[in-house]
Amino acid sequence: MDKRIISNNLLVDDEIEATLRPQRFFEYIGQENVKEMIQIAVEAAKKRSESLDHVLLYGPPGLGKTTLAQVIANELGVNMKVVSGPTIERTGDLAAILTSLEPGDVLFIDEIHRMPKIVEEILYSSMEDFVIDIVVGKDNGARSIRVDLPPFTLIGATTRFGDLTGPLRDRFGIVHKLEFYTDEELQIICTRTASIYQYQAESLAIEELAKRSRGTPRIVNRLFRRVRDFADILGDGTITLEITRIALNKLKIDESGLDSKDREYLNVIIDKYRGGPVGLETIATSISEDPLTLEDVYEPYLIQKGYISRTPRGRIVTELAYKHLKKTYQGMLF
Ligand SMILES: Nc1ncnc2c1ncn2[C@@H]1O[C@H](COP(=O)(O)OP(=O)(O)OP(=O)(O)O)[C@@H](O)[C@H]1O
Ligand SMILES: [Mg+2]
Repeated sequence: MDKRIISNNLLVDDEIEATLRPQRFFEYIGQENVKEMIQIAVEAAKKRSESLDHVLLYGPPGLGKTTLAQVIANELGVNMKVVSGPTIERTGDLAAILTSLEPGDVLFIDEIHRMPKIVEEILYSSMEDFVIDIVVGKDNGARSIRVDLPPFTLIGATTRFGDLTGPLRDRFGIVHKLEFYTDEELQIICTRTASIYQYQAESLAIEELAKRSRGTPRIVNRLFRRVRDFADILGDGTITLEITRIALNKLKIDESGLDSKDREYLNVIIDKYRGGPVGLETIATSISEDPLTLEDVYEPYLIQKGYISRTPRGRIVTELAYKHLKKTYQGMLF
């Protein structure tokens, strides 16, 4: 089978990221509520020697959906097969994957909202009854045969919960939204990263990194690696507060963790559309960005920070954002 369609591990991911990926619940920081609920479900399934109910994880990129799926498989003591929704083009692809599972295995489907409709329909019966109906033959000779599947756990991940169809959503027994991490949680993650890389880091430097990482573990790890480069070049390899600030400023990441794209987004609404409301498409065109990327990657954090709000008439920049950008708001200069 094609490597792009299926892999038994996370080869598809950036290898560096994989080395930092927590393997067990105790290493998975934060998301306490979600973790507790899932831990109970995993323990119960193990006790009953059953497969775990299907799990849907959603939330912005980099918050740990793939990581949590792998942790669940590890804790269950089963294998995880990883596929990406859009790469499963034909029902036969899905059938091949499903029939290759061992009892209790986890099938992780990333970007599950982007699966073709016909593939999704095949998934329904496999999730519900662990069977699939495969059509064999052609035209008049075509007939459907029912194939039994081993009991398995589907873990679906998506950044766009709203794009999932109702019937698919309803087939997940365990549904959780991952939230942005607190600064304290990101500090713990960053401290762990520093120790995996065997770098000394000042606690003030870790605090600074956490504060400027948009509540996102992937970003705190990425920024840590950039700061580490500066520490190696400018100093003796120790991650100091001063070096951290120099590096983050050079990367144009401000005190709130906004990067130049975020600022461009806010500035265009303020300067061209008097703070909004303005439609997503219009903003996207103005800053030459894909609207879906803005919606999935940029906006969730800006909303969480209270810098923008979504209204039926479009996006509005809040007073807080004017303040942050030191712009004049209704005659007031901050
Ligand atoms: N709870 C956590 N504790 C520690 N590190 C974490 C945690 N969650 C994520 N990470 C780190 O962040 C990185 C990104 O996480 P992950 O790939 O799981 O995100 P994702 O939600 O699947 O993102 P995407 O939507 O882009 O697929 C991981 O490699 C891991 O190192
Ligand atoms: Mg992922």
